[in-house]
Amino acid sequence: MFTNNLTSLLKIDCPIIQAPMAGGITTSKLVAAVSVNGALGMIGAGYMSPIQLQELIRGVRELTSNNFGVNLFVPSKFEIIENEIEMANSMLNQYREELGIIGERITPPSVEDTFHSYEELIQVVIEEKVPICSFTFGVPSKEEMKQFKQHNVTTIGTATTIEEAILIEKLGMDAVVVQGSEAGGHRGNFISNHEEGLIGLMSLIPQVADNVNIPVIAAGGIMDGRGIRAALRLGAKAVQMGTAFLTCEESGAHPLHKEVIIHSKVGDTTLTRTFSGKWARGIKNKFILEMEEYEDMLPSFPVQNSLTQSIRKAAASQNLKDYMSLWAGQCASLARIETVEELIQRVMDEEMK
Ligand SMILES: Cc1cc2nc3c(=O)[nH]c(=O)nc-3n(C[C@H](O)[C@H](O)[C@H](O)COP(=O)(O)O)c2cc1C
Repeated sequence: MFTNNLTSLLKIDCPIIQAPMAGGITTSKLVAAVSVNGALGMIGAGYMSPIQLQELIRGVRELTSNNFGVNLFVPSKFEIIENEIEMANSMLNQYREELGIIGERITPPSVEDTFHSYEELIQVVIEEKVPICSFTFGVPSKEEMKQFKQHNVTTIGTATTIEEAILIEKLGMDAVVVQGSEAGGHRGNFISNHEEGLIGLMSLIPQVADNVNIPVIAAGGIMDGRGIRAALRLGAKAVQMGTAFLTCEESGAHPLHKEVIIHSKVGDTTLTRTFSGKWARGIKNKFILEMEEYEDMLPSFPVQNSLTQSIRKAAASQNLKDYMSLWAGQCASLARIETVEELIQRVMDEEMK
């Protein structure tokens, strides 16, 4: 058993948080297995409807009474620019044609619906008495923070710079995930611009730890005991691991996604906004490389995400890795296929050595 102020707050036995991973990866089986094994399981609810989230929370509770959490995408205002959408569609149509989905009608999400859905997800977290809620792409409002405090929900923000971490602390959040540039999936920067938000984890942890009093959770490229030990040494109180849990047997990631990660080599990942309109790290494939030259002209998140949704879905069902978003961190080559229990035991044994 490993204890510090953060593990006590989260009621976990080891300093490990399974990264919330939106898009079907964090099944009830994965989240519950992580919590049963003494770490913190997190539901990635970013793309879920309130009903889906409610069902998943209840599904986890059927498997464990241990603590787990939910992660939400904080929306920000976005514009629907018809020219941009038309231009993106004209490029995406070749992929739709290849995948046999050319006639499909795509309606971009509205700003109102996006905000409304986020508010509904917050209500599910509160009504279902989920003990921990983390956020990315932004921070909750002061009113939302008041609600979380009233209902004893522990809150965790995501920062990519010192400035963002300080704001998270000022808002009264209980802990901060610092996301290094190595991290798989979407970038969580929200005050800092894309470039400012690309600090390596080794530089980010100690500087954030020196500037805030709340516990720091390190995320990005941590795959084993060495990474955990290094992060703790630099001032983190726990780590948040995504790619390492993605390839676990209990994860809901597409089998091809797991396979590509397992066989990846150093340098296979890149940052791209071609899939969603928001910068994210994943394994390079045909789609990313071909769309790269239009990257600056594409609509922003979540509009571009909605335009590529049917492409990603069709590619997944046809087992075509060329057009899937294969999110993964820079240490993907260290991933293994194993059970959650094996992963947690192995990395904690390595950490203790
Ligand atoms: C497939 C995938 C999906 C992700 N989805 C989310 C998400 O929904 N919310 C979130 O806060 N972070 C998300 N992340 C980022 C993780 O929280 C974390 O920063 C990252 O996984 C750490 O890097 P690593 O993958 O090298 O461990 C995702 C990461 C991956 C790989």
